[in-house]
Amino acid sequence: MLTANCQLPTAGATVSDLIKLTTESELPPANEAKEFSCSEKTICIANVNGTYTAMDNICLHRGGPLGQGMVEGGKVICPWHGWAWDAKTGAAEQNPSMKVAIYPVKIENGDVLIEI
Ligand code: FES
Repeated sequence: MLTANCQLPTAGATVSDLIKLTTESELPPANEAKEFSCSEKTICIANVNGTYTAMDNICLHRGGPLGQGMVEGGKVICPWHGWAWDAKTGAAEQNPSMKVAIYPVKIENGDVLIEI
């Protein structure tokens, strides 16, 4: 399910500013992933044993929606053909030279912030 509550950086913000993606209550349960829309991007948040990571939602294999996949062994498994993407590094198990973008995640006062 997509949610559209991402707040864009304000005017004058730098590229690396933290932006609000969602709220803590919307985050996926342990060892699940979920997708969130943010401007023209969609971000996959994975919960790896209670640690949240954020990556581009688009699988570099053939464009599958990573946030609709499973989380197993610290990897987000694409629901289309099963490629496994490391939630910390973004590297594909099937081809480690392919990496999806990873974004730092911070939780502050119930808000989930990512650095894009
Ligand atoms: S599109 Fe993700 S594994 Fe093929």
